[in-house]
Amino acid sequence: MTDTLLRGRILTFHRDPGDGTDPGAQTYLEDGGLLLRDGMIAACGPFDEVARTAPGAAITDHRPHLMMAGFIDTHIHFPQVQIVASWGSQLLDWLNGYTFPAEGGYADAQHARAMAGRFCSLLTDHGTTTAVAFCSVHKASAEAFFAEAAARNMRMIGGKTMMDRNAPETVLDTPQSAYDDSKALIAAWHGKGRASYAITPRFAITSTPEQLEMAGALVAEHPDCYVQTHLSENHAEIAYTAELYPQARDYLDVYERFGLLGPRTLLGHAIHLREREIAALSDTGAHPVFCPTSNLFLGSGLFDDAGLRARGISNGIATDIGAGTSYSMLQTLNEGYKVLQLQDQKLHPLRAFHWITRGNAEVLGLADRIGTLDAGTEADIAVLDARATPAMALRMDRAETLAEELFALQIMGDDRAIAQTYVAGTPQKGHAR
Ligand code: GUN
Ligand code: ZN
Repeated sequence: MTDTLLRGRILTFHRDPGDGTDPGAQTYLEDGGLLLRDGMIAACGPFDEVARTAPGAAITDHRPHLMMAGFIDTHIHFPQVQIVASWGSQLLDWLNGYTFPAEGGYADAQHARAMAGRFCSLLTDHGTTTAVAFCSVHKASAEAFFAEAAARNMRMIGGKTMMDRNAPETVLDTPQSAYDDSKALIAAWHGKGRASYAITPRFAITSTPEQLEMAGALVAEHPDCYVQTHLSENHAEIAYTAELYPQARDYLDVYERFGLLGPRTLLGHAIHLREREIAALSDTGAHPVFCPTSNLFLGSGLFDDAGLRARGISNGIATDIGAGTSYSMLQTLNEGYKVLQLQDQKLHPLRAFHWITRGNAEVLGLADRIGTLDAGTEADIAVLDARATPAMALRMDRAETLAEELFALQIMGDDRAIAQTYVAGTPQKGHAR
C-alpha cells in the first residue's frame, strides 16, 4: 500500500496542559507532516523532515487546517439516535416515555444494522473516531454495532445492555440470558481487530441484585473488559435506587458490592455524590464521565470536575446521545465550559482539546494507541477548520493565538468545522456509505 503524507498544522498533546501555561504539554507545528502507513502513523514532524523520509508518498494538503487526534466519546447510546431532542421530561420519565420504546425496536436485527451504519457515519462526520457505546438489551444490536465498526476498522468499545426489571418486556432480559449473551459477545468480539467489550448493566434501577451478581461474575472472568453504567445523575433516580437497595451505603456501593468498580469502569454522570462515594472512586480508580449537554438537557445538575480531579480522580467527557443533544465533542466542550463557569471553574481551551483526545484515551487506558499523533499510534485523525462558518471566520479575523482559535472551535464549532476525519488512515468524509 502506498504511504500517505498529510500536510497541515499539527497539534498533539503529551500531558494535561492544565491552565495552558505548560509549554511542554503539547507540540504545535505550523507546517507539519503526518506519514500514514498501514493504518498507523509512521512519522509526525515538520513537513520537510517527514517528506524527505517518504519520497514516494501521496501527499494530501490540508493547509491551513489543523490536524489533531480523532475525538473520543466515552459515553453514548447507539439505540438512541432517533430520540435526540425528545421534549419535556427529566431522567426517569424520559427513559419510560421515549428511551425504552425506541430501544425496543433494536430486537429487529435489520433495524439495528441500518442504525449502526448511520451511527458510525454521524460519529466520523463529527470528528469522533472512538466511542464507548451502550447497545440495547438485544444481542442483535451489539452484533450490528460491532460488525459495522469492524467494517470501518474503527476502534470502538461497546456492550449489550443488561436490564431485567423496571422497564417494558420488550427491553428486558434475565440474569442468565444477560450473562450468556454478554459472554458470547465477548468471545465473538472482544480484542478482535479494534473492538473491545464493555460489560454494561444499565443502572441499579433496571438490574436485580441477581443480575448485578452476574455482571460481577463477568468482570471477574474478563478483567480486561470495560464496565459501563450510570451513577447519581438525578435526585429521583438516587432515591429510587436507595429503596431498591436498602442495604447499600449509597448509590456507588451498589456497584462496589458486586465487584464492578476498577480502573476500567466508566460511570456516566456522577453528579450528586457523597463524600464516601468520592473516596471510593478515588480508591478504586473508576472514572466518572461528564456529559454536559445531557446534564443540561435533562436538568440533572452540574458536574463537579475540579472537585473530583482534586481528589485524584480522572474524569471522561462525553456526548451521552440521546439525552445529549449533539454528536459533536466540540459542542460537548462548549456546554462543558458553561457548566464549569456556573461553578466558577475554568476550562482552558488547551485542556479542553486534550480532554477529548489524549485525556479520554488515558481514561480508557489507550493513550499508547489513540488520542495523540505520536508515531506508532493508530492513524485516527480529525482535521479542523476554524473558519468553517461565516460567524467563525469573522471571529477568527481577530484571533491571534492558537488558544483563541481553539476556543472559537470549542464554542462555535460542530460538524461543519470538521474538514476531514481519518479512521485507521482512511478518509471518511465525502465517502458515501
Ligand atoms: N440512566 C439509565 N439509562 C440512561 C440513559 O439511557 N440515559 C441517561 N442519560 N441516563 C440513563
Ligand atoms: Zn447514558
